[in-house]
Amino acid sequence: MLVGKRIRLRAVEEKDLPKIVEWRNKPEIYQYFYEYEPLSNAQQKIWFEKFLKNESEKYFIIETTAGKAIGTVGLTHIDWRNRKCEWGRFLIGEKKHQGKGYGKEAVALILKYVFEHLNMHKLYCDLFASNQKVISLYKSFGFEIEGTLRKHVFKNGDYQDVVMMGMLKEEYIKNRKSILKRIV
Ligand SMILES: CC(C)(COP(=O)(O)OP(=O)(O)OC[C@H]1O[C@@H](n2cnc3c(N)ncnc32)[C@H](O)[C@@H]1OP(=O)(O)O)[C@@H](O)C(=O)NCCC(=O)NCCS
Repeated sequence: MLVGKRIRLRAVEEKDLPKIVEWRNKPEIYQYFYEYEPLSNAQQKIWFEKFLKNESEKYFIIETTAGKAIGTVGLTHIDWRNRKCEWGRFLIGEKKHQGKGYGKEAVALILKYVFEHLNMHKLYCDLFASNQKVISLYKSFGFEIEGTLRKHVFKNGDYQDVVMMGMLKEEYIKNRKSILKRIV
C-alpha cells in the first residue's frame, strides 16, 4: 500500500469493479478517456481476470485514509528492459471529491513508486490536448510535453489532438523534495 497524507493507493479487488465501471461511464470522466463504448461490468470482469496475470500493468484504488474509495490510477506497458512505463486510468470518481488535492497526492505517490520502487527511468502518458487542466497539473510536477499527435483520436464528435508528456528519473530527482512534500 502506498500511503500519503490524506489518501493511499491500494490494490484493486474484484469488489471494486462495479464502482470503477460507474465512474468510467460518467460523461464528465468518459470524455477524457479513449473508450468509445460504454463499459459493462461483464467486460470489466474479463479485463480484471487478464490483468491479474499481467506483469506489465498495475492498477490502484485511490482511497482516503478513512478507507473510502474515491478513484483509480494505473501504470501500463511496464517495460523492464527500457525501464519505462505509461501512466493513466487516472480519475477521481465523484465531483464532490475533485479539486480537493487528492489527485495531486496521487501523482506524488505514483512518481515516488515509479522512480524509487520500480526503479524506472521514464514515466510517460498521453492525453487529449483539450484536457488542459490535467496538462497543467502534470507540468506542475515537472512533466515535459514531448509532442502533439495531431487529430489522432476520434472522440466527442471530432478528431482530437493528443499530447505526449514524459518525466525522466533525473527530472524527478531534481524536483523530489517538493514532490515528496505533498505526501509526507
Ligand atoms: C484529473 C483528476 C484525477 C485530478 O484529481 P483532483 O483530485 O480533482 O485534482 P487536485 O484537486 O489534486 O488538483 C487539482 C488541480 O488539477 C486541476 N484539475 C484537473 N481536473 C480538474 C477537475 N475536474 N476539477 C478540479 N480541478 C481539476 C486543477 O486545475 C488543479 O490545479 P490547481 O490546484 O493549480 O488549481 C480529476 O479531476 C478527474 O478525475 N478528472 C476527470 C478525469 C480525467 O481527466 N483524468 C485524466 C485523464 S488523462
